[in-house]
Amino acid sequence: MISFRPLTEADLPLFLEWLRRPHVAEWWQPTPTLEELRDDYLPAMTDALPLDAPGGTVAYLVYRNNEPFGFIQAYRVMAHQKDGWWLEETDPCALGIDQLIGEPDLIGKGVGTEMIKAFVARLWSDPRVTAIQTDPDPRNARAIACYRKVGFQDVAPVATLDGPALLMRMHRPQQARA
Ligand SMILES: CC(C)(COP(=O)(O)OP(=O)(O)OC[C@H]1O[C@@H](n2cnc3c(N)ncnc32)[C@H](O)[C@@H]1OP(=O)(O)O)[C@@H](O)C(=O)NCCC(=O)NCCS
Repeated sequence: MISFRPLTEADLPLFLEWLRRPHVAEWWQPTPTLEELRDDYLPAMTDALPLDAPGGTVAYLVYRNNEPFGFIQAYRVMAHQKDGWWLEETDPCALGIDQLIGEPDLIGKGVGTEMIKAFVARLWSDPRVTAIQTDPDPRNARAIACYRKVGFQDVAPVATLDGPALLMRMHRPQQARA
């Protein structure tokens, strides 16, 4: 049973511990200090819907049987254009997601697929949301395989401020249309 709880300041040491673990640090760079993490994520600590989040991002810890094991965030794609990201985007209702499993024992067992499917279903429950993207490192074959299983389709290799990425996207499924 997977659940999502908005990130709080009390969660930051655990989040940082996960970011420092080699299986995450390999793909999630640079590893911040606790102060940087707090500065980056305080605006994302909200239970607003992602399209309404004042800072453009909502961050969650992910729980399984009441144990935290991962992190996931949703951002309004166009909200990050002011920082130089996704300058081609014209859809104000497109979201993006970023995620990690912090507990190494849970990697490669289908948990990520389950987590992201549940999160995507939650995002579609806002009828305004039209599309969801994610942008793994093109070398992160495990993440790409997982996202394809969830239903993301490859769009194109892109250059981002964090380096090369594979842009992957899902559009609202017909049956979930409001
Ligand atoms: C990315 C992540 C969330 C995926 O979750 P996960 O639970 O590990 O993924 P799943 O087990 O659901 O699916 C992984 C798939 O990749 C496949 N895979 C694993 N290693 C692979 C590799 N080197 N090449 C190709 N496929 C690979 C697995 O076989 C599995 O597919 P299958 O079920 O068809 O066999 C998780 O691995 C993670 O948090 N990684 C560390 C941080 C990270 O990379 N975050 C993503 C940043 S974009």
